[in-house]
Amino acid sequence: MSKVNVVLGCFYGDEGKGRTTDYLAQTCEVAVRASGGNNAGHTIEFNGKKFAMRLTPSGIFSGKTVAIIGNGVVLNPKVLINEINMLKENGVDVDTYLKISEKAHLIFPYHSEMDVMLESRRAHKIGTTKNGIGPAYCDKYERCGLRVEDLYKDSFKEDLRNQVAVKNYLLNCVDVNLDFDAIYDEYMRYAEILKPYVCDTISLIHRYIKEDKMIVCEGAQATLLDIDFGSYPYVTSSNPTIGGILTGSGISARDVGDVYGVIKAYSSRVGEGPYVTELTDETGDRIRDLGHEYGTVTGRPRRCGWLDLVALQYAIDINGINYINLNHLDTIGNFDTFKACIAYEIDGREVREFSTNEEFLRKAKPVYREFKGNFGDISKCRTFEELPAQAQEYVRFIEEYTGCFVKLIGTGADRECMIVR
Ligand code: IMO
Ligand code: MG
Repeated sequence: MSKVNVVLGCFYGDEGKGRTTDYLAQTCEVAVRASGGNNAGHTIEFNGKKFAMRLTPSGIFSGKTVAIIGNGVVLNPKVLINEINMLKENGVDVDTYLKISEKAHLIFPYHSEMDVMLESRRAHKIGTTKNGIGPAYCDKYERCGLRVEDLYKDSFKEDLRNQVAVKNYLLNCVDVNLDFDAIYDEYMRYAEILKPYVCDTISLIHRYIKEDKMIVCEGAQATLLDIDFGSYPYVTSSNPTIGGILTGSGISARDVGDVYGVIKAYSSRVGEGPYVTELTDETGDRIRDLGHEYGTVTGRPRRCGWLDLVALQYAIDINGINYINLNHLDTIGNFDTFKACIAYEIDGREVREFSTNEEFLRKAKPVYREFKGNFGDISKCRTFEELPAQAQEYVRFIEEYTGCFVKLIGTGADRECMIVR
């Protein structure tokens, strides 16, 4: 029986998870997305072009990988159909390789409207992507959500009518009144287009595991955006950590193999919430420019700062990460010197254990260690030994601190710019 490799973000998203999955998919036969929705934006470069994947696992680009959208995903059919068309235009055989779980919950226009309305009334804004992710998960847990399979049931029309009425009632306060007939007609069109891809992905995945197929799960969002383990309420509405991979796909804990934690050589965050190593000065601006840190989904400039090893250790412990994929090593090498946070100072005390407690994070002051930069052009390096000594030193320090092997190193934006150890 095969073991499933999992790719997870360690901080606040945008660590480059798409690239890791894309790399692993070259040897994997199946790629799975298990949580989140089109709040994700996974950029991969392929044939000299840049693609921002929102829902489809990036593994589909390998040309021989089955791409599964699992039951834990909240699915906006309009976004997915645009993605399917884009993939087809670029020669990807979507019809053979895309599978959509019949149990995935659907996002409707009222979810996005609710997202906007709720965010506008919040005392402390979260800075959501306004894609209706939170409201769709609310409906799932409230048990009034509509799933992909419902599109093909006779009861769909009445259930949707009922939902539109309820949501219009709630949206009345912002003068929004959605037209049931228009939504119904629109979703019936989507149902037709998506039908060939819809199946029972849970038993399909179990079959693949028994057939010894190589499977990779592509996490979306990241550990510190987790509804349970992140900096609540400044989080997303799902579990982007290891537990969410299992419940969002039907894969058992027994079947999990290697867990890859993806990080950048620095850090970034979109949206509100605490961020201990944030740099609000020109150094932060320089990281943003060098690393092109602007949201794939919203285009928002990302908050940037140094790498936080205290938080990284937390992500490793929560997820059982055994391999690190370190991206943007080239970016950090542009600095003469740069830093990484090795402890927090709280009330004059040095601590190395992370907590999402609000007061703890508000008080925490980063204790830094400085590293030598000026790596030069490392994009052609294909082995660890080819990296300049100071770059090797940074990687080794991360390994010593975490006890985790840095297996993949991103040295540039292109697909080939990756050192595998
Ligand atoms: P990937 O998979 C970065 C952030 C949003 C916001 C918070 C809640 O590309 O790493 P939501 O719309 O989910 O209710 O917003 O979570 N967020 C992300 N930030 N990358 C992502 O995904 C994100 N998905 C959600 O900016 O602060
Ligand atoms: Mg993103």
